[in-house]
Amino acid sequence: MPASPRVTCPELGQRITTADEAAEVIRPGDTVGISGFTGAGFPKAVPGALARRMEDARARGEEFRIGLWSGASTGPEVDGRLAEVDGVDKRLPYNSDPVMRRRINAGEVDYVDAHLSHSAQQAWFGFYGDLDVAVVEVAAILPNGLLVPGTSIGNNKTWLDRAEKVVLEVNSWLPRELEGFHDVYYGAALPPHRIPIQLTHPMQRIGDPYLRVDPAKVVAVVETHAPDRNSPLAQPDDASRAMADQLVDFLRHEVRAGRLPASLLPLQSGVGSTANAVMEGLLDAEFEGLTAYTEVIQDGLLDLLDAGKLTSLSSTAFGLSPAGQQRFLDNVGSYKGRILLRSQEISNHPELVRRLGLIAINGMIEADIYGNVNSTHVMGSAIMNGIGGSGDFARNAYLNFFVSPSLAKGGAISSIVPMVSHVDHTEHDVHVLITEQGLADLRGLSPTDRAERVIDNCAHPDFRDRLHDYVARARRARPDAQHTPHLLEEALSWHASYLRDGRM
Ligand code: COA
Repeated sequence: MPASPRVTCPELGQRITTADEAAEVIRPGDTVGISGFTGAGFPKAVPGALARRMEDARARGEEFRIGLWSGASTGPEVDGRLAEVDGVDKRLPYNSDPVMRRRINAGEVDYVDAHLSHSAQQAWFGFYGDLDVAVVEVAAILPNGLLVPGTSIGNNKTWLDRAEKVVLEVNSWLPRELEGFHDVYYGAALPPHRIPIQLTHPMQRIGDPYLRVDPAKVVAVVETHAPDRNSPLAQPDDASRAMADQLVDFLRHEVRAGRLPASLLPLQSGVGSTANAVMEGLLDAEFEGLTAYTEVIQDGLLDLLDAGKLTSLSSTAFGLSPAGQQRFLDNVGSYKGRILLRSQEISNHPELVRRLGLIAINGMIEADIYGNVNSTHVMGSAIMNGIGGSGDFARNAYLNFFVSPSLAKGGAISSIVPMVSHVDHTEHDVHVLITEQGLADLRGLSPTDRAERVIDNCAHPDFRDRLHDYVARARRARPDAQHTPHLLEEALSWHASYLRDGRM
């Protein structure tokens, strides 16, 4: 008799235990690699038990902090809870939890904001040090010890391979039908032994439906029954609808010009309410037979799939709102064969992004008049979330878009600035900027032509004159430096003035 319907491997069934006991394997100073990418697939029980141990340790006057690696963001039960008890000293590669963000910005947690395609390979290269424990959520453990992954794969393969000890959480809330939704590539090697990854279509299978683990490393199996937890997405508003219209018109134009096929190229859609709303704009457009090769499935992509506009969708994780999640769960069987989840080193792989020729659509915090984009920092210093996969996709995409309302903070400040306060995507990478004001196609333009177009098409009218005036004065100031004219002191004081005026 198996120990549990979800744990049918006799050997691993013997390791079933409580979350509290499992958390005992994690020691102060350990580095812990957890599953989770967005609010999908994070371990639901062991992090909470660990947080209680940390609180107890603190009550005894002992320090108990860990290094925490994941796929990307997790739920409040992980990042929020561990940050609350001051239990993390280093976090990588991505966070969107507000409590953890506060600790990072207070200088209490070291944050390594890495490209998401890099984290697995850099762990393999040894750049981050050793991994002591992996805590990975799965949907089931099969009789032969293979693992049925859950709603995200992220870096799970790498954490399971690299960790000295493994704790598995088997979550019966995850539909058992998830078996068959995954493609885990086991062909990755380290340089100089790498070979081409033989993937030429978004839905091509190149790996196994299961994760593997050395059973000898599994020190505990914990059964849970708890939901994933993503926040609701903001409803599309007039601004996001205007941006969606810009995008659709532009894609139409590119098809007419023969630069895109009628069914476009595989779509990548970034995190955030704006990127999601822009994706929803494709619902009413004429494009059919679309595909997606992305890292997060937000509601906009599920809508396109349900509407039959999108034929198939490759990702590493779901990132659905509660309503979207319920829709998926209610119809899980119907999505099999149309949704494929992969490791993030494959979903975001530069070789594949370039080969497939993605259309990458990502949110931004601000862009400058020359086309540099800041996706991560508010006023140059405070991290918002992280670069996530936006760099993996944008740099290698066939065509990339960065989208944002032209104004932020209730209209107090401009998202189009003379010089971004932090650079994530350089002017050399960025193709098209979209705000509710319009679209700036920057391909093939010199910096000064880009500046004209960005100001005229994307900046809010309240800020256009000021930005034009900035360029004009910069040009006059340095007749011998006309390539990318700047007034350095003023460029930097642009953001400083927001802080000074109390607009932020
Ligand atoms: N200056 C200061 N703050 C700004 C700003 C600006 N120009 N533009 C946005 N913000 C702030 C907003 O005020 C908001 O903060 P708040 O929640 O404290 O009010 C926050 O940034 C998010 O802005 P919002 O307008 O809600 O946008 P969004 O949900 O579409 O997210 C990003 C935008 C850039 C934060 C988001 O896309 C992101 O994290 N991107 C990086 C990761 C990524 O692109 N991954 C891609 C692959 S999935």
